[in-house]
Amino acid sequence: MQAVLYQIVRGMVKKINRRFTLKARPKALPDADHFALEAVDHPDLASGEVRVRALFHALSPWQGQRLKDFANYTKPFEIGELIDGDVLGEVVEAAPGADLAPGQLVTARLGWQDYAVAKADMLTTVTDEFDPTLWLTALSSPGLTAYTALDLLGRSMPGQTMVVTSAAGSVGGYAVQLGKLAGMNVVGVAGGSEKCRYVVEVLGADACIDHQADGYVDALSAALPSGAHQVFDTTGGPTADAVFGNIAKYARVLIVGRTSSNNSDRPDLDPVNMRLLWAREATIQGFSRYSYPERWAFAQERMKELCRENKIHANHNTVNGFENLPQALHDMLAGKFIGKVLVKCEAPL
Ligand SMILES: NC(=O)c1ccc[n+]([C@@H]2O[C@H](COP(=O)([O-])OP(=O)(O)OC[C@H]3O[C@@H](n4cnc5c(N)ncnc54)[C@H](OP(=O)(O)O)[C@@H]3O)[C@@H](O)[C@H]2O)c1
Repeated sequence: MQAVLYQIVRGMVKKINRRFTLKARPKALPDADHFALEAVDHPDLASGEVRVRALFHALSPWQGQRLKDFANYTKPFEIGELIDGDVLGEVVEAAPGADLAPGQLVTARLGWQDYAVAKADMLTTVTDEFDPTLWLTALSSPGLTAYTALDLLGRSMPGQTMVVTSAAGSVGGYAVQLGKLAGMNVVGVAGGSEKCRYVVEVLGADACIDHQADGYVDALSAALPSGAHQVFDTTGGPTADAVFGNIAKYARVLIVGRTSSNNSDRPDLDPVNMRLLWAREATIQGFSRYSYPERWAFAQERMKELCRENKIHANHNTVNGFENLPQALHDMLAGKFIGKVLVKCEAPL
């Protein structure tokens, strides 16, 4: 791997930037064969730009979704396009007019590459009040998505029951905790007994049902004697459909993601239990955090307060090595991890 990092050009050693692009589209889950590892020159900096060395890449299901040629709220990657993604990195070079000094930690959507060039004013600066990884978890998309969806579109009433799918997941894990902080009875849904134990014992849910276990549908019904008053769904597919089969009258259903549907070879299929959503007069609300940029700072401040008060548990897994990004994305989409997945890289300085 080191061989692609440097090139000898007319006797001089020239630094090369590694980047992953899309080579072929997966039918269902992606694997390493769907990506090309390229080595390209470092571009020069223009006025106001900085060079950022990636330290951590955050993985998200939308990256898997954009590999497919399937229209959704984001457009698919083109073949040969850099795989986009959120990065925590350090500024290593700043051009005149860039108001950031080398050494400053920043986050931004800079993609799967060792080094990125960006306008300094497009970057979020990371303060040292929190562990730097929190800026990719609780204080970033996962935490802000759960907070904003529940704050703006949920009606989290004490004593009512909220079901959260992918409850051990990155976004779902914060929804569970925010639901409990709001006084709700929270029932999580997660894949496997280890995840379910985590959702109850660490995140504080009242119960968690294993969607991979035999009898999932019956166990879910048994855990919801009064039905689900609120649903926070990030998976879609049969897992969510079983929840829709148990909604209470006037339930609020927040559709936040579709990992299960998007992972499948039929991402176009929709819930079977739609008739119950009608019969029980549910409110179904699709949510995208990208529609509420004016709320991100507010949500981030509230999440900071909760972190300061130790009321929020932020969890992530670290996978080592830039070259392991494709496999880590596969494993994340397949449900191998609890919480956010961060890939730590060691690009040479
Ligand atoms: N609307 C927005 O603004 C917004 C923002 C961020 C993310 N999202 C969306 O929210 C969803 C979750 O994102 P995330 O980052 O928090 O990912 P995540 O939930 O941490 O990771 C994916 C999880 O999906 C679950 N999964 C995979 N296949 C499944 C299946 N067949 N049935 C049920 N669950 C399955 C797995 O959990 P189990 O092992 O527990 O099954 C896996 O761990 C994604 O669809 C993402 O695109 C939306």
